[in-house]
This record gives sequence, C-alpha cells and structure tokens, in this order.
Amino acid sequence: MQFDVWSKGLATLEADCLVVGVFEEGELAEEAKSLEPSTGGKLGKIVARGDFSGRSGETLLLADLEGVKASRVMLVGLGNHKSYNRKTFRKALAAAVTALNRTRIASVAFAVARPSFNDLDDYYFGRVIAEVIGNTLYKINDLKSAKKGKPPALESVIAGPVRGAGATAAKRGLTHGAAIAAAAKVQRDLANLPGNVCTPTYLADQAKALAKSQASVKVTVLDEAGIRKEKMGCLLAVTQGSAEPPRFIVMEYKGPKAPKAPIVLVGKGITFDTGGISLKDPGAMDEMKFDMSGSAAVIAALTLVSTLRLPLNVVGLIAAAENMPGSRAVKPGDIVTSASGQTVEILNTDAEGRLVLCDALHYARRFEPAAVVDMATLTGACVVALGAHHSGCMSNDDALARELVAAGVRADDRTWHLPITEEYAEQLKSNFADMANIGGREGGAITAAAFLGKFTQGMKWAHLDIAGVAYQGGANKGSTGRPTPMLADFLIHRAGR
Ligand code: BES
Ligand code: MN
Ligand code: ZN
Repeated sequence: MQFDVWSKGLATLEADCLVVGVFEEGELAEEAKSLEPSTGGKLGKIVARGDFSGRSGETLLLADLEGVKASRVMLVGLGNHKSYNRKTFRKALAAAVTALNRTRIASVAFAVARPSFNDLDDYYFGRVIAEVIGNTLYKINDLKSAKKGKPPALESVIAGPVRGAGATAAKRGLTHGAAIAAAAKVQRDLANLPGNVCTPTYLADQAKALAKSQASVKVTVLDEAGIRKEKMGCLLAVTQGSAEPPRFIVMEYKGPKAPKAPIVLVGKGITFDTGGISLKDPGAMDEMKFDMSGSAAVIAALTLVSTLRLPLNVVGLIAAAENMPGSRAVKPGDIVTSASGQTVEILNTDAEGRLVLCDALHYARRFEPAAVVDMATLTGACVVALGAHHSGCMSNDDALARELVAAGVRADDRTWHLPITEEYAEQLKSNFADMANIGGREGGAITAAAFLGKFTQGMKWAHLDIAGVAYQGGANKGSTGRPTPMLADFLIHRAGR
C-alpha cells in the first residue's frame, strides 16, 4: 500500500474516490462542505432529502459527481458531532474501508473529519488511518478448502488535510500505522492457526524466517537438550506430558545508534493448553490454541522494530511448549527446580504459563536489560477483573507501568495498572518448596504476577496479562492482535518517536 498526504483542493485531487464525513442529522463536515461550491451543493441536497443521515458507520457511494475530479465520492457517517472523538473517527474509517473493499476502487483520498488536535495530532492522525486500513483489510487465515476471494483492490491512499510541517509528522504516522497493522497481522496469523499446525517448532521456524529476511535480527533456538542445559526445570515440567518437543527461542534485534541495554520482551508460548492433569472443562477448550498469543506478540514486535529500524536493542524470548495430560505429565504436588534455583511445588498443572515464563524471565537477566516486559494469556482471573477492555499491567517499577499505561491510551489498546504488593506473594507459600505455583482464587491475576515477581528481582519488569484482550470468542472468534499496538507505541516512544 502506498501512503501520502494531501493539503488542499479536495475537489481537484486525482483519485478513484474521495471519502468525506457527515455528522448526524445531515451536518456536512468541513471537508464535505468544501465540495459544495464546485458541485452546486449536491451533498447538501442529498442530506436535505434525508437520503443520508450521518449515523455512525453509514456509507453512501456517489458516482461521477460534477465539479469533482475524483470519479467517486463516498459519504461516511460520523455520528454525533459533540461526542466525535478518536474512537468514532476509527469507527468511521473502518466503515469506509469495509465499503471500499466491496468495490474495485484502487486509490482513495481520505478527507474524514479529524477529531481535535488534542485528541489526535498530525502523527497520530496518519498513524490511525494507516492502522485502521490495515486492520480492516485483515482477512483471517482460515484453512477452508474453498478458493479464497480476490485480494483487496485498494493500493494507494492519501490522507488529509495536513498543512505545512504537519505533513512530515503525518507521513511518519502513516508509515508507523502501516507497520503496526502489519505486525498485528503477524500476531493474528500465528494465533489463529490451530495447535496441530502452530507448534513450538513452528513458532521457532517463524522466528528464524524473520531473521532470514531481516539482517538486524538474529535468532537462536534451544531444543529440549539446550533447555535442559539451561536447567529450565519449570519449562521442562510443563512440556514433559507432550509428544510435541518444546522450544526456547531467543531473538535479538540490534538497531542503529541504540542504547546498549536492551528491552527484553518475553512471551508465553503455550501452543495448546489442555490444563494438563488438572484438565480444563471441554467448553471452549479449542480457544486454548490462542495461549501462545504472548509469544506471537513478541515475534510481531521484533518484526515491527526491524522493519522500522528503530534505534533500540530489543531481545525477544519465547518459552514454547504444549501442556498435555499423559502418563509422563507433571502431577499436582510434583516439585521442580527452576533455572533460578528456586523450587516450585506444582499444585495445579493448569497454572503452566507462569512456569514457562519464570525460566524465560530468569534467562532475561544475562542481557542486563533496561526493561523486561512479558506478555501472557495468563489468567482467567484477569478476564473476570477487566474483561476484554483492558489488559492487566503489573510491575515492580511504577514508572515502567505508567509508561505502558500511557502507551495503551495513545494506541487505543489500553492496559490497567494493578497493584502487586507483598501480600500477594504470601499467598504462594508452600510447606514443601520455595513456593507453590498457585495462590488461591482471590486476586488470581495478581498472585500469578507475584509468582513471576520472584524471578525478576533487580530488573525493571512489567507483566501484561492479555488473557481477556488477545482474542475473541463467539461468532467473531479469532485473534485481535492486541497488545501489539500498545507495545508498538511503547517501543516507538522509547526510540524517541
Ligand atoms: N491459559 C490459561 C489462562 C486463560 C484462561 C486464558 C481463560 C484465557 C482465557 C492459564 O494457563 C490458566 O489455565 N490459568 C488458570 C490458573 C489457575 C489454575 C490458578 C486459570 O486462570 O484458571
Ligand atoms: Mn493453563
Ligand atoms: Zn495457559
């Protein structure tokens, strides 16, 4: 997709289609109004007749409007003018892109009313447009045998109006937005694959494929023997019930002029979570193929930083395994030794995410990181607490947590800061080992984080519980690509934007 900006003279722009906005009750937005003199008030007539109400998400395609150089004009409803904001702007864009995608329109000039500058500066204006286009055109990578439809016709987009110095910022935003959507697609494609395709080995192969296409990325994969050498007893305990071999994936991106200390991203890569001997209920168990979403977000992030060549050093660590019951599987009450040397009594084999993560977090230490951020579909308790609206953010460093929360707000991919004070760790006491892997029902998202906290002391660390946000169930079942937009914003800001 080609992206550029436009600054003035909407009526004379060359494009297959102009997209302009109309507020509720037929109030033409400024850009639509600007077409009125040359068209003889055509748009005003359409709304005055009541043929277009401006309801949020409504669209109408008009052909060969006299006085307009573009061959078509699309009206898109913006909803109520007073409550118009970034969210409704995104909704209008998505509606327009969906309608455009049913046509053969290849080039579009977006002239959709822009929310206030405070809500959306030039950079984010460009970024949101490219991101929404990419996300809306995403097609699920299903394994249906029927032939796939045609690829999208849309190939070039200009967005505006942006004036003067704003053009540079908006163009940068367009580039970043497209990269964020492309990264989210990497995550979604991986997470949507079934567990029999997306295995730990498959994840490792995808990481290697990235290293092959990007010289700035180096990938090392540990197989079971390598994992044993690292003494990752907790990861080994999770994988031991499965015939599918585990992988520990190390991805290293070195950016230009980057500060030396890397940001280490850690992903939970459970390619299927049956619960193990503490077997899950069958209802919706298929959704546990999404339990590697955190690791897919790590691969997505490495894709993003390497394509944008951000001036950062970023390490991605993925602990990948399948959690299965079986005669070799780890049992409730078994005690294992983590890579850190701390012993863990596994009281519930379904609390496996924290087990694979604790060994990965310990591995992070050797990089002397500036910050460690792990991402994991870790607890049902987090889904109960925050639903699908926010991911949960827990950290041993308030400044880091605030940074992530702010990134989530800017990216419209929000996270909520939950407390992680000493009391929660006390719930993990075991009579037989240094700790148990569960801490009771109460505060379940936080006791899981407190478990991880025992492996991150001395590092600036944040944990994102993405169990509620990474995928949807029901009729629209599939990966959402979250938290890639938030993480992208965090990384872009660390790189100085
Ligand atoms: N992968 C699950 C968490 C999960 C639950 C993700 C629902 C998405 C939706 C995780 O491995 C798990 O099973 N957690 C247990 C922990 C419990 C045994 C302490 C849970 O949340 O029930
Ligand atoms: Mn589990
Ligand atoms: Zn799990």
